[in-house]
Amino acid sequence: LAHLSNKAIYLLWLGNLRYQCILLCRQYVQKLLSTQEASYLQSLRNLKKKINLLQSSTGKQTTRTINSTCPRLDGPINGRKLGRSHAVGHEVHVLCDPGYELVGSESRVCQESLTWSGQQPTCRDINECASSPCLNGGTCVDEVNQFSCVCAKGWAGLTCQTTAAAATLPAATMGPFVRPSRCTIMQGTTHCTCEPGYTISGRDSNTCTDIDECELFHNGQAGKLCLHACVNTPGGYRCSCPIGYNVTRDGRSCKDIDECATRQNNCTKDQMCINTYGGFQCVRVDCPKIPNATYVKTSPMRCERNPCPVDNKACSQTPNSFSYHYLAVVSNLSAPRVMFRVSALRPIGDTLRFSLLGGRQARRHFTVQRSDRGTGQLMLVDPVQGPATLEAEVEMSELERRVQLGRYITKVTMFVSQYEF
Ligand SMILES: *[C@@H]1O[C@H](CO)[C@@H](O)[C@H](O)[C@H]1NC(C)=O
Ligand SMILES: *[C@@H]1O[C@H](CO)[C@@H](O)[C@H](O)[C@H]1NC(C)=O
Ligand SMILES: *[C@@H]1O[C@H](CO)[C@@H](O)[C@H](O)[C@H]1NC(C)=O
Ligand SMILES: *[C@@H]1O[C@H](CO)[C@@H](O)[C@H](O)[C@H]1NC(C)=O
Ligand SMILES: *[C@@H]1O[C@H](CO)[C@@H](O)[C@H](O)[C@H]1NC(C)=O
Repeated sequence: LAHLSNKAIYLLWLGNLRYQCILLCRQYVQKLLSTQEASYLQSLRNLKKKINLLQSSTGKQTTRTINSTCPRLDGPINGRKLGRSHAVGHEVHVLCDPGYELVGSESRVCQESLTWSGQQPTCRDINECASSPCLNGGTCVDEVNQFSCVCAKGWAGLTCQTTAAAATLPAATMGPFVRPSRCTIMQGTTHCTCEPGYTISGRDSNTCTDIDECELFHNGQAGKLCLHACVNTPGGYRCSCPIGYNVTRDGRSCKDIDECATRQNNCTKDQMCINTYGGFQCVRVDCPKIPNATYVKTSPMRCERNPCPVDNKACSQTPNSFSYHYLAVVSNLSAPRVMFRVSALRPIGDTLRFSLLGGRQARRHFTVQRSDRGTGQLMLVDPVQGPATLEAEVEMSELERRVQLGRYITKVTMFVSQYEF
């Protein structure tokens, strides 16, 4: 075939076809013919290519083999490949990382067939527990290149080889605060580590003991860890607050819960809710019952005397008004300090007098001073340790030429919390 010219083959075939065409239908077949011609030319080209290839390959066989390589080989995961040449006749080797074992062929050769000998190697995690290293009923936990033993009750040590009595920590204390350590044996040396928040302990470094942060940082330079109470937890700690307080966002301090604002109180409708540090108080303002006078509530916290009958001296001597104030303070508040100020809105007469009423209790904690001509102040004289409720009454009288014109009573109730925050 190769010796015939292309044109000769073409004409040979074409002539035959055309002859048949004329006999049938010229127009229809003309179309068919052009496609046939194209496809014929294409197959002829392919044929020529193949012949050329065949011819050249016979002459250049050796060159081609030397030039060829096997497919690229990557090192296995958790291992590596030694040897870079992928050419025919060359070898590569595979090594696994420590803690992994080889599965498949360690060496592979690039063969004449341009394929690698042997099987695709992989590196598999060695099961350190396979040899059952934990004794006396201990449970082995396999990890990469290491293992740890969770010992049965009464046993301790890296491989649970010693009785708990021999170990520094009895097995009975094993719990969330005492954990087994993680140990690695490398070249005959044991290296043990603990989870964060734990520290190595035990005779063989075989256990990890929880660090008591509360104890450790109790009076540390950074100050106490917690404002109120520190609770040691396995591997950590948290701060807690007394009832009536919530731990602040920083987790260290306590902030008072406003029970009055959050409806966490059970005060009735006729009571007022007073938020205190760590709690709340329900208070009810009732006007006093005093002979010869009657009082009426003019605001939730104030009572005023009804007008006295003319010439009723006993009535006109009674206080003109009572006002009520409630203060919430923390325990051990520094003193002396001003707790409350009283002044006359529209003073009449020539003199204002301020005095402290109430029994001995009031006098022990408070005193009343004038701060300016028209103002008196209730002072706390000593720090008060809570929880406590203190009451004090401040009387303000107006006088004109030493004759009393009016008396006004201010009742102050102080709720002292149990804590200093
Ligand atoms: C084969 O070898 C020739 C000459 O040595 C070189 O020019 C060519 O790039 C090589 N081909 C491959 C695929 O390596
Ligand atoms: C306080 O904490 C409790 C529970 O942790 C929560 O339900 C409540 O909303 C908190 N109150 C305030 C005022 O943050
Ligand atoms: C509110 O509840 C407390 C207990 O939580 C109880 O001691 C107190 O008497 C109650 N007060 C009222 C007004 O119901
Ligand atoms: C004051 O009240 C008492 C008892 O309520 C009564 O005996 C007395 O007469 C009254 N005084 C005046 C001046 O009304
Ligand atoms: C009260 O406060 C003072 C100083 O602010 C402090 O030294 C003292 O220990 C506190 N007392 C109590 C009982 O907390």
